[in-house]
Amino acid sequence: MTAGSRIVAMGHYQPSRVVTNDDLASTIDTNDAWIKDRVGIAERRIADAETVADMATFAAEKALAGSGLTAADIDLVTVATCSSIDRCPNVATRVAARLGIAAPAAFDLNTACSGFSYAMGTADHAIRAGASRNALVIGAEKLSDVTDWTDRTTAVLFGDGAGAAVLTAVPDGEQPGIGPVLWGSAPDKGDVLKIEGWQPYIKQEGQAVFRWATTALAPFAIEACRRAGVEPSELAAFVPHQANTRIIDGIVKRLGLGPDVVVAKDLVESGNTSAASVPLALSKLIERREVPSGAPVLLFGFGGGLTYAGQVVRCP
Ligand code: UT7
Repeated sequence: MTAGSRIVAMGHYQPSRVVTNDDLASTIDTNDAWIKDRVGIAERRIADAETVADMATFAAEKALAGSGLTAADIDLVTVATCSSIDRCPNVATRVAARLGIAAPAAFDLNTACSGFSYAMGTADHAIRAGASRNALVIGAEKLSDVTDWTDRTTAVLFGDGAGAAVLTAVPDGEQPGIGPVLWGSAPDKGDVLKIEGWQPYIKQEGQAVFRWATTALAPFAIEACRRAGVEPSELAAFVPHQANTRIIDGIVKRLGLGPDVVVAKDLVESGNTSAASVPLALSKLIERREVPSGAPVLLFGFGGGLTYAGQVVRCP
């Protein structure tokens, strides 16, 4: 039996093409000042030939290389994505095939921008139940494929990328590194953010999502901390979904986080990458050694559905 799981290592991947706000302003009626002021984004990465599976594989490869484990050790692969055009074989089995992971449980999961926390919660439960020992949990998106590049209300928001974590079982008696997930949804509000139909462009009622995010979510984030036995004031870092700096600042205020808490604002350089935003931001914080190993970090995703999920993890 195991007491739970912990993150051993993380990795991320972003396409090399940088698209600045000024680049977008040359084709649609927008400007750098509006995007920075209203959203907080300065630039984003946009994929060219890379698919969701490519980006997921590159991120997972890095996480695996840093974990001390090998492909033979991995028995579960899950990919959170809402933008993969390829559906079967699913992205998880494509990643497994490319990394030489022979026979894992392999599934994709779509809860839009909260996907990484849902996937990590699910993998953690599988490990707790004894159905897995070492899992790869990935968030990967190519939102540029589902963006209407003539619609200024959405085209300025999104980017492409992937982040991945390797989870392993902790021995009985040891403290788990992944706290209980707090997850849920508001299905009655589903219409305010859609990617649907045969030409599935993202459509969103930005203000409705903004209102929900700034009013409804802070109590859930606090509850995720409570379930882990951690006070928000004890957090070393907060890694929320990277949609809008004004939303992030609003939640930070309601959590009462002090000035010493590291708050991820990766959207400035990456845009909103939906299910990839939390693992991408966390992987970068770890790479830059901005959070000490073992320190508590609150992850919190939210978006289409409307869905939300979060948990406190210990930094690897
Ligand atoms: O990741 C999934 C979850 N999604 C989110 O969390 C997104 C939540 N929503 C938001 O972050 C914000 O609502 C947006 C960033 C999407 C929009 O910001 P806003 O402050 O709510 O803007 P708005 O929609 O109220 O529009 C204000 C004005 C409008 O002009 P008028 O009617 O006041 O003349 C818009 O037409 O800004 C205009 N506008 C723009 N102007 C320049 C809208 N988009 C742009 C643009 N450039 N790209």
